[in-house]
This record gives sequence, C-alpha cells and structure tokens, in this order.
Amino acid sequence: MKISVQNKEEKAFTCDALVLPLIEDEGIRPYANINKSLNGLPAHIIASGEFSGHHNELSLLHTKGKIRPERILLIGLGKRNDVTREKLRQAGGKASSFLKGLNIKNIAISTKTITSLKLMPADFLEGCLLSAYSFQKYKKKEKKSLNKITILAGNITKKEIQWTGTLATSVSFTRDLVNTPANDMTPSILVKHARKLKDISLKIINKKQAEKLGMGAFLSVARGSTEPLKFLEIRYRKKNIAPVVVIGKSVTFDSGGISLKPSQGMEKMKYDMAGGAAVLGVMKAVSELKLPLHVIGILPATENLPGGNASKPGDVVKVMGGKTVEIISTDAEGRLTLADAIEYAKRFRPSAIIDIATLTGACSVALGSEAIALMGNDQSLIDKIIKASKETDEKVWQMPLFDEYREYIKSDVADLKNSSGRNGSLVTSGFFLKEFAGDVPWIHLDIAGTAWTDKDKPYIPKGATGIGVRLILEFLRNI
Ligand code: BES
Ligand code: MN
Ligand code: ZN
Repeated sequence: MKISVQNKEEKAFTCDALVLPLIEDEGIRPYANINKSLNGLPAHIIASGEFSGHHNELSLLHTKGKIRPERILLIGLGKRNDVTREKLRQAGGKASSFLKGLNIKNIAISTKTITSLKLMPADFLEGCLLSAYSFQKYKKKEKKSLNKITILAGNITKKEIQWTGTLATSVSFTRDLVNTPANDMTPSILVKHARKLKDISLKIINKKQAEKLGMGAFLSVARGSTEPLKFLEIRYRKKNIAPVVVIGKSVTFDSGGISLKPSQGMEKMKYDMAGGAAVLGVMKAVSELKLPLHVIGILPATENLPGGNASKPGDVVKVMGGKTVEIISTDAEGRLTLADAIEYAKRFRPSAIIDIATLTGACSVALGSEAIALMGNDQSLIDKIIKASKETDEKVWQMPLFDEYREYIKSDVADLKNSSGRNGSLVTSGFFLKEFAGDVPWIHLDIAGTAWTDKDKPYIPKGATGIGVRLILEFLRNI
C-alpha cells in the first residue's frame, strides 16, 4: 500500500474515489465548493434523506468529469460531540472496505472535518488500512485491492503516517500467519518468518537443548507430533534497561492430543498460534519503528497431536523451575508450553512478562469475540494495559485470580494439575500461569475469543483479527 500526503485542493486531485467524512446533520457545508461544482448533487442526496451522516453511513456518487476525482464517497462520522478515535477507525474501515468491494485501487481522503473536530486523521487512516487486508494466498485468481491512499490537506505528520503504516503492515503480517493453514505454518516455518525480521537477534532452542534446559512441560506437548518443536527467543535491544518479555502461545495446530477434540470445527485450531503471531507482529513493528526499548519475544512453538509417543492423561511432567504438573487433559496444552516459557523468561530479570494466548474455550463463553480476558499479579501493570486498551479499542476485561482458585489446580500426585474441569476454567488457567510468574510483574491475555472472527467487523475482515498487536504496541509505546 502506498500512502502519501498532498496539500492539493480536493477538487483538483485525480483519483478513483475521494472520501469525504461528514458530521451527522451538518450537511455538505465543509465541502461547499465541491457541492457547487457538482451542481448541488451532494446537497440533494442529503436533502432527500438518503444520507444524513450517521456513523458509518455511506453514499457514492460519480462526478462525470466535473471535478478531478472520478467518484465521491460520503461517509458519516455521527454526531459532532460523539465522534471518537474508534468511530474514526470504524468509518475509515467502512469506507475502504466498501471501495475495495468495487475494485477501486487509488483513493484520497479529505481530512478537513476530522481536523475541525480536533481529532487525528491518522485514526481514520488506520481503519482504512486495517480493513483493506484480505487473505488471497490460496486463491488461483487473486483479487486486486486498494493500493494507494493519499491524505489531502496537512495536519498529519510524517511520523504519524509511518506509525500507522507500520502498525497496519504488522497487523496484516500477523493475520497472514494466523490465516495460513497448519500444513504451511509449522514451528519451523514460524522460525523462517522470524528470521526475516530486521534489527533483532534470534535464538532457536531445539528439542535437545530444551531437554537440557528441563522444559519438561513444553516437551510433553510436542511428543505426539513428528514436526520438530522450536522455542524462539527474539531479542530487540535499543536501550539498556530490564526487558519486557512478551510470550505468545504458538501451538501451530491443536487437535487436543490424546484428549482429542471433537472433529466439528477442528480446522479452526490452526489459529492456536495467534498469540505467537501477535508477538512476531509486535517485534516487527517495534524494530521497524526503532522504539527505544528492550523487548524479548518468546514463542514456544509446537503442534499438539495424538500419536504413539504422545503424552497421556495422568502423565506427570516437570517444568523448568522444578515444579511438577499432572496432565489431566492433553488438551490443556497451552499452559504447559507457557509454564516453561514463563520460567525461561524470568532468567532475563524482566520488568514485566506479558503472555498472550488462545488459552481457553471458556474465554469465548464468557466474553464472546468482543474482549480479551485480562489477568495478572500486578494491578499497576494491569492498569497500564487497560489504558492501552482504551487507546486502541482492543478491549480487555479483567478477571480475578483469587487465592481460593489454588485449590482447583491442586493435584494428588504432583505440585499442580493442568486442568480442573469446566468450572472456572478461564480463571484457573490464569491461576496456573500465575504459579510460574512468581513475584515478577506479569499479565495474561486470553485471546481465544478475539483472535478469530466469523463475521466482518468495520475494520476487521473475517478470519484472523491480528488482535494484540495494537494493544501491546501501544502499551510499549507508553513506557
Ligand atoms: N486452544 C484451546 C482453546 C481454544 C478453544 C482456543 C477454542 C480457541 C477456540 C486450548 O488448548 C484448549 O483446548 N483448552 C481447553 C482447556 C480444558 C481442557 C481445560 C478448553 O478450553 O476446552
Ligand atoms: Mn487444547
Ligand atoms: Zn490450544
């Protein structure tokens, strides 16, 4: 996607479509000159009641050579006092996906009304870019899509464009990884993608080294698969401070293992690496934006399959720090991989550990696909994530980790068990991880409900959402 800024007058700018954001019930006033050149057609459409400017409302008209833009797209922002950053994102998303549907390639956005509201055109642009995404890799005939966006009239800085552009490419990168089927997204292929990141150092721990390190829980998940496990450590260091470690669940396919999942819907379990993909997206953005940070990304990547060598319910495994875990369900594999990853992360003496994972079906049951379940052991860190969530509208909802939940994951034979059944399954998974975080400030983000959407949202086409990238990036930007 080419993004540029031009200080030209809207009327005089040649493009396939000119997008005009309008405030509800305030008519075409900001674009009186365009209205005049079009013999009052926009005003007529508004007077007819066909378009009033309510949020996300659209109206398209052709200009028939009267002005340079081939078409005009009116997009409603809603009432003046109700416009928010998120509404701008959504309106941008609606406009760009509508134009994408018409096979339009080259668009311009007028920023006049947005600037007059003292809001940022960058948010509208963000929505445009995020909704322009489509996953075409496996289609014989690739659909052409929007490839050029010009922002008209200043009030957007180069820095904002760079941030927004990088953010969108990083989210698209994450979505691509998640949408790609598991046969083409194995742990080894994740490594290949990590190798393409610039300005980072990459360390790969393979099975032998994982054995040496004592990652018994992570190793146990990989036993059923013939695909070699990979434990990725991606380090970005632009500042000499304690790192933030970001861990992403990277189960490239979750069949459940011996505790096999029902076959209905199992194809979707390719998205069980969405946490790891989000971490790669964050590392990509952080390094391209050269943020003054110290961030370490960790992806314990493996498949979870049944097999002659697979782990069995009842098996006891030992996590890196020495704690033992009884495997009640081989389908509660994510927390096993994360337990070793968290123990490993503690070696870096991090200022914070954030893990992001499609951890429980119960997360979707509780929050649907609207919010991430947020848990942690440090309220000030949690509050920082909530703040970043409000900025990005990647919604989070805090769940409790009451001490009483410890009882739920007590095992008769080992220190802990990996599953305690359905009751409280969202919070007991969090509590399990908490046992490994110890006193390091730690956050757990369960994205099982939000990492995938079955229906189009204003700036999220259906499929992988890329959730987490914007949230974590905003969190990192604030520190
Ligand atoms: N990857 C799944 C969770 C999941 C389910 C993600 C649906 C996205 C959509 C996870 O590994 C899992 O199977 N969790 C079990 C845990 C249970 C056995 C304690 C679950 O939630 O059913
Ligand atoms: Mn599972
Ligand atoms: Zn899983």
